[in-house]
Amino acid sequence: MATKVCVFDAYGTLFDVAGAALVAAEEPGRAALAEVWPQLAADWRAKQLEYSWLRAVTGDYVPFWQVTKDGLDWAMERAGLDDLELRERLLALYWELPAYREVPMMLAKLNAKGVGTAILSNGSRDMLDGAVDSAGVGEFLHAVLSVETVGTFKPARAVYDLVGQEFGCAPEEVLFVSSNGWDAAGAAAYGFDTVWVNRMGLPMDRLMAQPAHVLSDLTTIPELV
Ligand code: LAC
Repeated sequence: MATKVCVFDAYGTLFDVAGAALVAAEEPGRAALAEVWPQLAADWRAKQLEYSWLRAVTGDYVPFWQVTKDGLDWAMERAGLDDLELRERLLALYWELPAYREVPMMLAKLNAKGVGTAILSNGSRDMLDGAVDSAGVGEFLHAVLSVETVGTFKPARAVYDLVGQEFGCAPEEVLFVSSNGWDAAGAAAYGFDTVWVNRMGLPMDRLMAQPAHVLSDLTTIPELV
């Protein structure tokens, strides 16, 4: 079936989540962070996601911004960084994460093909608006869909339902793109034609279903529609 809409995960897929810790680590006076930033970034991301899944399972939903802050607090404590100013700086940088280099051109090509484009993200609405504005990609997107509407997190099926509700299309008419293996598995199981963007050369996740396509970056997405 022809693709009507191409839907992207946000964090890690369009926006580089390691960007915040890296940018802060390069600022003057950040020697302590410079020593530990890769581990801090990895812990922050891992805890943010873990907390989202656990809160989805137990029904204790809080906005993604809250699990983002909770994950950072855990990661900073583990790294021995007791620094409120640094915490505020890292959180501020999360609202202006860089998009991966190929993103604007890739979205422009999808627009030229007449395919709908959207973000479907765990992110809170205001966080997503901040990242989209800061990366300057809003003009290429037809919709920014946040889990806030349904009050749970991916990979709950209620989240993937938001795409059909917005665009009035069947799952097979959606090309869903995520760099998170677990999100790609959830989307494939839901019935989306799914791309896993595997930038790090990681093994395939052993989960509900496997994505139909595996790419190393986003450059060739327009060729799939
Ligand atoms: C998102 C997270 C999972 O944007 O990266 O939904």
